[in-house]
Amino acid sequence: MDVLQDKQWQSLEQDIISWRRELHKIPELGNELPQTTQFIRSVLDELGIPYTSLMSGNAIVGLIEGDQPGKCIALRADTDALPIKEDTGLEFASENGNMHACGHDGHAAMLLGAAAWLQAHKDQIKGSVKLLFQPGEEFPGGAEPMIKEGALENPHVDAVFGMHEGQIYPGLKSGLVGIKYGSMMAAMDRLFIKVIGKGGHGANPHLTIDPITLSAEIILSLQTIVSRENKPTEPIVLSITRIDGGYNQNVIPDVVELEGTVRTLNHETREWLSNRIKEVVGALAASRGAQVEIEHTFNYPPLINDSDMVDLAKNAALKLFGEENVIELAEPMMGGEDFAYFSNERPGAFVFLSNPQEVDGKFWGHHHPKFAVDESFFIHGAMLHAQMALDYLQEA
Ligand code: NI
Repeated sequence: MDVLQDKQWQSLEQDIISWRRELHKIPELGNELPQTTQFIRSVLDELGIPYTSLMSGNAIVGLIEGDQPGKCIALRADTDALPIKEDTGLEFASENGNMHACGHDGHAAMLLGAAAWLQAHKDQIKGSVKLLFQPGEEFPGGAEPMIKEGALENPHVDAVFGMHEGQIYPGLKSGLVGIKYGSMMAAMDRLFIKVIGKGGHGANPHLTIDPITLSAEIILSLQTIVSRENKPTEPIVLSITRIDGGYNQNVIPDVVELEGTVRTLNHETREWLSNRIKEVVGALAASRGAQVEIEHTFNYPPLINDSDMVDLAKNAALKLFGEENVIELAEPMMGGEDFAYFSNERPGAFVFLSNPQEVDGKFWGHHHPKFAVDESFFIHGAMLHAQMALDYLQEA
């Protein structure tokens, strides 16, 4: 079945836009989304779609059961906003000091649109569609706790699909659907190193173990792992973003702290790099008689799309929007996305829907106070969710 043929989308388009505007007015942060989830529940109630709540009510899992038995596909939308004061001048701009500056309000509205359509076509669905409304994508992560609380069971989810609107992929022209086989977004890990030397008078370095010069060696050696030990065609970002140590011009401190971000695109490189960081930093410290404490915290995993699911997403998008509107992305992004937890658990595909909107005559990036999205493409996102679900369940 092709979702395009259905006239119901015309009336749904207005609903999706108004749902999005309502959500846009009430941006909330992290894993505490009482008003947002209240709104989503009220729409699901109106649509007659049953749901359960996870994460103390801050995550919602809706379920659309088709008339015939079959597999289960999960469609995911993140729902959280950012601590940014909105400056778009839109008539429905937020006034509570937070802002949907990444477009997650649109994600939730598009998923509700798809849900409305799928619910109205239950008789043609073989299997079930789970709706994952996930908090905390920006911080501190909502996908992992949802999975731990059973979001992918009862019924057992066989595949997952998600999308991001706006302009995550630089230069992607409006209206395009960007797909990507394999690694699409990076693991987003935190590195913290405490370099413990022995402080003393700046004039007597021989009586100290200087953590400042050692930190310099460590920083440069970390970059050498990237440039000399890693395969050049395998992307790694290792950025030390904070150095903290010392008091004044004549005291060698005891301790220096380093902090940074580590990005990799696959599990093997991630593990390897983590081990090499520990070995190299440990050896450098030992060579100077110093100590180190290293915390390498694995946050969001790399987002690696499943090829069969990308095929499905690609075909669904081609069917709906034509060849000129579907593009295979040349490169992965080094940003993180916690949809990766879902696609780590089940075959998954994540796509970009490009719909940036000018404000004051300019496009502003994600997480900017003037970030805006073009609502006229919401209908595309909703249709793609629905078509993806139908196609997957048909083939399964
Ligand atoms: Ni986002």
